[in-house]
Amino acid sequence: MSNWKFRLQSAYATVTKGCRHVPHKPRDPRGISHSRLYHAKTFFTPLSRARAPQILVASSAAVAGIAALILSASSQRKALAESEPPQRLIRLHEIHQHNSTSDSYWVYHGTSVYDITEWVPNHPGGEVILRAVGGNIETYWNIFTIHQKQEVYDILEQYLIGQIDPRDLVEGKAPMDDVDDPFKADPQRSDTLVVRSERPCNAETPEDQLGTFITPSNQHYVRNHLWVPDVKDGDNHRLVVELTDGTEKEYSVAEIRNNFKHHTITATLQCSGNRRAHMTAEARATSGLQWDIGAISNTQWTGVRLRDILHDAGLSVDMLPEDAKHVQFVGAEAYGASVPAIKAVDRYGDVLLVFEMNGKPLMRDHGFPLRLLCPGHVAARSVKWLNRIVVSDEESWSQWQRRDYKCFGPNEGSKVDWDEATSIQETPVQSAITSITNISKNRLANSELAKVYGLEEDAVKVAGYAMSGGGRDIVRVDVSPDDGKTWRQACLIDDESKGSKAWSWKRWEIAFAKHDVAKHVVVKAIDESYNCQPESYEATYNFKGNLTTGWHRVRVSDDGGV
Ligand code: HEM
Repeated sequence: MSNWKFRLQSAYATVTKGCRHVPHKPRDPRGISHSRLYHAKTFFTPLSRARAPQILVASSAAVAGIAALILSASSQRKALAESEPPQRLIRLHEIHQHNSTSDSYWVYHGTSVYDITEWVPNHPGGEVILRAVGGNIETYWNIFTIHQKQEVYDILEQYLIGQIDPRDLVEGKAPMDDVDDPFKADPQRSDTLVVRSERPCNAETPEDQLGTFITPSNQHYVRNHLWVPDVKDGDNHRLVVELTDGTEKEYSVAEIRNNFKHHTITATLQCSGNRRAHMTAEARATSGLQWDIGAISNTQWTGVRLRDILHDAGLSVDMLPEDAKHVQFVGAEAYGASVPAIKAVDRYGDVLLVFEMNGKPLMRDHGFPLRLLCPGHVAARSVKWLNRIVVSDEESWSQWQRRDYKCFGPNEGSKVDWDEATSIQETPVQSAITSITNISKNRLANSELAKVYGLEEDAVKVAGYAMSGGGRDIVRVDVSPDDGKTWRQACLIDDESKGSKAWSWKRWEIAFAKHDVAKHVVVKAIDESYNCQPESYEATYNFKGNLTTGWHRVRVSDDGGV
């Protein structure tokens, strides 16, 4: 059950028990009051219509009255639905005037126009809703698909005030050029990235860049859930830190950079969907972007320790209070996630608030001006464009924490109990083959690999990456030249990586005599806890295609090459 509905039920239970106290007011990292549980117009008018997020305190009287209102809500809604829609005809230019700078907020959906002024301060998704006011909301609901359900349509219907004037319609619809493009301010990107989706941008690091230890910043894979916030003045961008007792402290990025000790660590970020296309090909259909092996990159990140900021904000980082179980993060575009508090404050956990990648300011696609880096964890937790941190007794309520990034059994279809599954945090052991090259006997003569593997004839060189989550080092990479019948150990390249633990991928390479190489070359890696990748994709099949780590098998072409 989603948070806002749960709160609604809790309030209802409190009132019906005859209890007069105001239910616990949970804090939402998006800064929106959970008095949103009294959201619907049929329940009562919110206490204030704040444009900026603010905490509203529900009064006991309002709570006492709510039970009756809830009971009557469904019949009122039914009556509303059955009554004739308002006939008022509204010109598009008039809707545009009711934008985020106006006193009242209007939107349209289809050809219907709504005045959502009262809903805005109670919106569970926070103030991002203001992006859409004065125009069409469908573009946004196509991105935040959580809205595409009857209960949300029902809420919207209560704010109906009229219809778009037919003079402004084209073939019965609002004209396409009236619909806002949320991605219009996205940055220019390198055209060598392998694009999996344009809007939002999702693109892989190209294969020839997967062999370098540090990925050039403009070749780092891009994983955007929404648009890229256009922060003009990075130094003055604000970060609010809120503790479990509700106290807040605010920092500018300049203050963070100037007042705290800098740390540089080398860390690999990997999308939980990396190699999803292999699960689809080798097991069954999966939902989500069909990534190949390039939703992974390795970078030198510079920033300050999250631990130091939390300490400065007043958190007892060496003895966490009982209710400090999770640290939630919110980005400027509304993305949200959380990590366990114990990781956030671990002095060897290297969790950073980052402002530089590879010695230069963060690129816009990667979180300018400030992002989280939670090394050893799935990249979905390293929230970009950070503007709010909340220490809490519960995980983030975002769909990206409570829904998307979870795994289920191979037998479970898409109708799963999301609440029962654990959110992905640390990732399992992974490896992939990034190149296969023929080496002629002549070129082999002085090569180190030839010496290691005792080769004096035409050979095939195989190279790739391996990594594990939680800072667990890679201790062995096994490569088979003949589809898993025989194995040899690859050479692990000793790249210099900064940080308390093994946060970076390990590059590896191996050479086989050409006549030993069959149709498929296979790799699997082993980490320091002796975790190993599964042979089959069916073993870890989940309909979301998350954490695909089956042995990577690559067909060898006659002239080498992956
Ligand atoms: C008047 C129109 C809108 C209504 C009635 C509405 C309603 C809701 C409701 C009921 C939820 C909670 C859904 C759940 O947890 O199951 C929600 C969440 C959310 N909404 Fe809206 N919304 C509206 C417009 C928008 C717009 C225009 C945007 C974006 C520009 C937006 C962004 C979000 C986000 C980011 C969440 C939270 C998603 C998450 O954390 O998982 N909403 N909205």
